Amino acid sequence: MCGIIGYIGRRNIVEVLISGLKSLEYRGYDSSGIAVLKNKKILRHRTVGKVVQMESTIPAEFHHFVVSKNEENLVGIAHTRWATHGKPSEENAHPHTDCKQKFVIVHNGIIENFIEIKNKLTKHKFSSETDTEVLVHLIEEKYKGSVLDAVKEAIKLVHGSFAFVLISTYEPDKLFFARKDSPLIIGLGENEKFIASDVTAMLKYTNKFIFLENDDYGIVTIDDIKVYNTKTTALQNRNVAVVNWTAQMAEKAGFKHFMLKEIYEQPQVLRENITARVFGEDIVFNDEVKFSSAQLKKIKKILIIGCGTSYHAALVIKYLYEQILKIPVEVDIASEFRYREPVLSKDTLAIFISQSGETADTLASLRMVKENKILTLGVCNVIGSSLYREADSTIYIRCGPEIGVASTKAFTGQLICLYLFGLYLAKLKSILSEQRYQELLNSLYKVPSYIEHILADTSYIKQLAEMFYMKKDFLYLARGINYPIALEGALKLKEISYIHAEGYPAGEMKHGPIALIDKDMPVVIIATKGSLLQKVFSNLEEVKSRDAKVIALTNYGIESKSIDYKIVLPETDEIISPILNVVPLQLLAYYIADRLGCEIDQPRNLAKSVTVE
Ligand code: F6R
Repeated sequence: MCGIIGYIGRRNIVEVLISGLKSLEYRGYDSSGIAVLKNKKILRHRTVGKVVQMESTIPAEFHHFVVSKNEENLVGIAHTRWATHGKPSEENAHPHTDCKQKFVIVHNGIIENFIEIKNKLTKHKFSSETDTEVLVHLIEEKYKGSVLDAVKEAIKLVHGSFAFVLISTYEPDKLFFARKDSPLIIGLGENEKFIASDVTAMLKYTNKFIFLENDDYGIVTIDDIKVYNTKTTALQNRNVAVVNWTAQMAEKAGFKHFMLKEIYEQPQVLRENITARVFGEDIVFNDEVKFSSAQLKKIKKILIIGCGTSYHAALVIKYLYEQILKIPVEVDIASEFRYREPVLSKDTLAIFISQSGETADTLASLRMVKENKILTLGVCNVIGSSLYREADSTIYIRCGPEIGVASTKAFTGQLICLYLFGLYLAKLKSILSEQRYQELLNSLYKVPSYIEHILADTSYIKQLAEMFYMKKDFLYLARGINYPIALEGALKLKEISYIHAEGYPAGEMKHGPIALIDKDMPVVIIATKGSLLQKVFSNLEEVKSRDAKVIALTNYGIESKSIDYKIVLPETDEIISPILNVVPLQLLAYYIADRLGCEIDQPRNLAKSVTVE
């Protein structure tokens, strides 16, 4: 959480930093700030609220300075915050400075031992409640003539996660940085350099990046980058990666919100993933999955880990793989998995799903599994992210930047990749009949156009949103492979509209939750064709006889007088249906939140990349 950016070069520095911050706002948006060096002094401005608030109140002295004169380099840093230590306030907003205003820092992460360090820095004067301020004072304390040495000494003493960028009046032509368990990427331009939490902040200017590794620290100057690592004394050589995303991909393209744009991008995302991997009847993962056929054939168990929406994708895949691969699949929420004592066997394939590739708990789980010498496979949207680099192999979900905090296209992207991977394994292990394999592949081919069909006319879903937006609670019910879609539908609604919503396995209702039902409770039920449809109908009757308002996802030809409102979807194979069924639920959540006037792309209390546990 929190987005940071630094720049050294000769452009309009305020514009570079603020436009970068705007594309990092999905990481936090309760306060923001900027600092630049001017005549060897630190110029700083911070406000509570979104980046536009900070931008609109920026003092005139910043504007006099924005464009480089006399070939002089401009150096600055900026930050958008998601509060962890200390409430959102101007004092707590970054950048933070030391006592003498010689250093200024922006930080993403948590310094866990900040109280202990603060207690030792008795001579220093603190002006915020943040953990970050301790870091800049510690660097001040360690400074003996070299800023880099001070950074190096300071990071030896801090525990927790951090990505920070620091500038100093002592060495004004440099950006100093360090990272541990939080992402930090250097962007390379002609006679300019950038450094930020995410490539999206730099895409306007470059597509060449260095993804820093854990424990890296160093210096960026206008024409050089020096990367060191706390684990060794040698200067590090880091590869330059070219990212094929464009700045336009990170814009709204006429949509009211990123979330809506991303919902509409799903057919394209699915097509791209299919086209990249399916050749005739063959599914190919050559460049991505580096395990040998022999290794894959030996797999006796699959473990899948994720958080939030990525965890819901994992749950769908459990149903799928147990059916088509006939091997046990265990699924866990990363924050639970890492603190239990899981029994791991060597013949397991552990899959880690994460859009960002930076979710702290997912990464900690990955590291824990790797210590047990088990094959690890990442499923990720960000090339160069920690998951991408640390898993033994990684499937890239080809979604383009997902900016809306509520994940949509990444979810269906994760599903399509793991569906294809499941079919690939099934063929390799000769488990599915040729006919069933072909049927499923054909059904997958059709999904993008079915989703286009749903997206072509969303007027009925909008009407439902209009009817139900004032409700205080919603229940989402489903069975079998669509049960995780009920969870996902409820999560989408609660996170962007703040309406309480619960997803439940429909068959579990009578064991408690049915007590919640009365005439005021809308129940969204997934009743598309499948082996459990009759059972779903029985559950539907149970809620209807308690006067619930029933909104059902169904297919043509499915009739019941107990359904009050029907969202009719194209019919597909039951095990493919989750990829389709989630789309109207994303739309329903979106239109309800929009009707309520919520901040859809940046819901309160949330940040897109959860880099702290
Ligand atoms: C919900 C949502 C979150 C993320 C979760 C994991 O819409 O976006 O629940 O799915 O924070 O994030 P990643 O996939 O980046 O690990």
